[in-house]
Amino acid sequence: MNRRQFLSLGALALARPAVASPAQLRVAPARQPLVGTAHPATEVWAYNGTVPGPVLRYRQGERLRIEVENTLDAETTVHWHGVRLPNAMDGVPHVTQAPIAARGGRFTYEFELPDAGTFWYHPHLGSPEQVGRGLSGALIVEEREPPAVDRDLVWLLSDWRLDREARIAPDFMSAMDASHAGRIGNTVTVNGAVLESFSVRPGERLRLRLVNASNARIYGLRFEGHEPWLIALDGQPLEPRRLAGERIVLGPAQRADLIVDCAAPPGSRHRVIDDFYPRRAYRLLDLVYEGSARRRDFAPLQRLPANPVRQPDLGRAERLRIVFGGGMMGAMPSQREHRGVFWTINGKAMPEQHHDPAPLVSLKRGTSCVMELVNETAWHHPIHLHGHVFRVLAKNGEPASEWGDTTLIDPRSRAEIAFVADNPGDWMLHCHVLEHQASGMMALVRVA
Ligand code: C2O
Ligand code: CU
Repeated sequence: MNRRQFLSLGALALARPAVASPAQLRVAPARQPLVGTAHPATEVWAYNGTVPGPVLRYRQGERLRIEVENTLDAETTVHWHGVRLPNAMDGVPHVTQAPIAARGGRFTYEFELPDAGTFWYHPHLGSPEQVGRGLSGALIVEEREPPAVDRDLVWLLSDWRLDREARIAPDFMSAMDASHAGRIGNTVTVNGAVLESFSVRPGERLRLRLVNASNARIYGLRFEGHEPWLIALDGQPLEPRRLAGERIVLGPAQRADLIVDCAAPPGSRHRVIDDFYPRRAYRLLDLVYEGSARRRDFAPLQRLPANPVRQPDLGRAERLRIVFGGGMMGAMPSQREHRGVFWTINGKAMPEQHHDPAPLVSLKRGTSCVMELVNETAWHHPIHLHGHVFRVLAKNGEPASEWGDTTLIDPRSRAEIAFVADNPGDWMLHCHVLEHQASGMMALVRVA
């Protein structure tokens, strides 16, 4: 091998991280220092011993095959959020599979990955507690020809409610959280640790994959001193758009792919601020420039290749109106009759233990569908549909033109989504504030 071949192999290896995705995910308690060494390590629930779980990386079109082993004292499942997979692999207990039994149950997930993009995985059973104790991880599906970047990074954002000893507060599903904005914590971690700073090299181009794996917290991130390009939402490409001063808003379960060109001077520091909640703005971390300047012109960005998602036929689409109701200051179900049920979809609540539920809507396979999602409550709801990717036609009073699997609807506002119901099975439609989901805000969409 000559030097030139060696160098180009080196470049390939850099672009494609050497870590092979594991063939097994073991669900077990673990300890991890979430808030640094001044505090004791936190007892968490983890996939393969770390929070978040391992970053799973595949190429578009590859098959994922992972055996999940559950050593917890609780049943679990794994849902592969945003992946258009066969219904039996979707990880919804009592709908697509039996729960993976406590203390030793196993289940093998195996499916093809049709779409490139940033996805994630998490339990779909007792999720307020299971995700809240740390069970989540990123699933990256690389494009066949990914854009050239110096580093391809994941920032998985989790939100924790910790006490002074850095222990997780065990008050999951309190009526207060469930009937209001969900369980919003007091500590935000990036890839499982509170980060003071994140070092970048002057002149490098980063692909930054943001995943909101929090139970309920919404983020509104600003990169001071930078103008990142937004290139994909929920893994689905869009025309690259420069975020000049504009913040990137991510509801629970949403993802964004950014290209960050590190053009600031060596030695400089720049805050990344989260100011989604007006009176609770904080600094997530500092981007710190380390190393000497490498002169660099940043090449113009191409739009990522589209995924093979079918375009809905808007003219002939079936139109459905889906109304989200309930919650504090709203039409909440009577607590005398339905204790702990706070939310409804079209007037009905689906309980967490949903054995044999009836579908809310049934669609003939292949139909285009336009859903008007009406939020009649005083709270935000990130609404997620399984098994499909939808086009967002409008949201929060503005026309939109993006694709996704989760859309964040403002209080007393609405969104319009369109998709082709081309994946047969019973699919969940639910709010991804996990405390809302578990207290009624979910339903089934049948495609047959
Ligand atoms: Cu990410 Cu039904 O969930
Ligand atoms: Cu909600």
